[in-house]
Amino acid sequence: MAYTVPKLADFSPPALDSAVRELLSAIEQESAAVCSENDWKAFRDRWMARKNGNLTQLNDLWLKGAPKEAKREVGQRVNELKTKVETAVADAKRWVLAPGVQATYAGIDVSAVEFEKYARRAKLAMERLDITLPGIRRPIGAEHPVIKTMNEMIGVFRNLGYSVEEGPEIETDFYNFEALNFPPNHPARDTQDTLFIAGQESKPLRDRLLLRTHTSPVQIRAMQKMKPPVRVVCPGKVHRNDALDATHSPIFHQIEGLAVDTNITFCDLKGTLDHAVKAMFGSSVKTRFYPSFFPFTEPSADVQISCIFCDGKGMRDGAPCRNCKASGWIELLGCGMVDPNVYGFVDYDATKVSGFAFGMGVERIAILKYGVDDIQLFFQGDVRFLEQFG
Ligand code: PHE
Repeated sequence: MAYTVPKLADFSPPALDSAVRELLSAIEQESAAVCSENDWKAFRDRWMARKNGNLTQLNDLWLKGAPKEAKREVGQRVNELKTKVETAVADAKRWVLAPGVQATYAGIDVSAVEFEKYARRAKLAMERLDITLPGIRRPIGAEHPVIKTMNEMIGVFRNLGYSVEEGPEIETDFYNFEALNFPPNHPARDTQDTLFIAGQESKPLRDRLLLRTHTSPVQIRAMQKMKPPVRVVCPGKVHRNDALDATHSPIFHQIEGLAVDTNITFCDLKGTLDHAVKAMFGSSVKTRFYPSFFPFTEPSADVQISCIFCDGKGMRDGAPCRNCKASGWIELLGCGMVDPNVYGFVDYDATKVSGFAFGMGVERIAILKYGVDDIQLFFQGDVRFLEQFG
């Protein structure tokens, strides 16, 4: 219960003594409970507010209410109390203002009792718990959009019975090119702007190291490891000597896939990719296979999907669609039937098995899925961009 100034009926000195004692003990208790700036303000107002503060009450209830013969005595006591209250309020203020004030007090030779009081206050202040404050939110990290997209795609192929294979980012010329049917000096090598490790001229070409330009070498490694039937997807980081711009980056990610078995046909390839694309972009998306060339597949195709921005119409909001350059189609990935020459490098019998392979850029798919307009955003690590994928 907060202290309120009592109305006095008895103005005799012993009665006054006891009323004064009560008031002093109240102010001591209240001042000891002051732990913060806000506490102090409330404390000050309770005692010193002009309107209903305890000092005003003292004036009204004790001084004005005193009979004539007691006025002098009461006036003296009220004045003393006033000074004490003012001092207590000022002291409590000093306490809340400066952190480390306890040390200052200790430094200026405070009494043991005083020190005890300060120590108690400090303890109270430390233990203070404002249960009305909102809790502390600890945001959990978000999956990077490239990894997220990659995992989604892996999920689609896992559901079709594919397993995941990974391989080294620093590859030999053999795995990156030769075993994939890029013979030495073949012009198809020029389509992949390769970053070679320097100073390897003394090594045979096939042993020279480079940063892999695609994850296709993992397919060679997988075929060396296992016999058909093979169904694998190979996700990973790849490197090309490309200049940075909104759609190119010297580092990007790919997912490639390979299925080798008896009697695998181009129909299987079409059905698989059509399913995968629909799983990623929605069932209304159409696919179109366009003749293309890769040394390791024959025949080869580029797969285009109907533009997801204009529904394949080529026009959006009365204007030509910018995303598909008004064609209604967007190029998504490369694929083809594994070239029989490739089987020669992994000891598969090309007369008995057949298979298909495909490869796609993960950033490209993420760009389409999330409407990102600059591939660089994936690599800059700007939290404002990344947290949108949380
Ligand atoms: N490896 C090719 C590339 O990086 C993609 C691809 C994979 C094409 C498999 C056909 C078959 O461009």
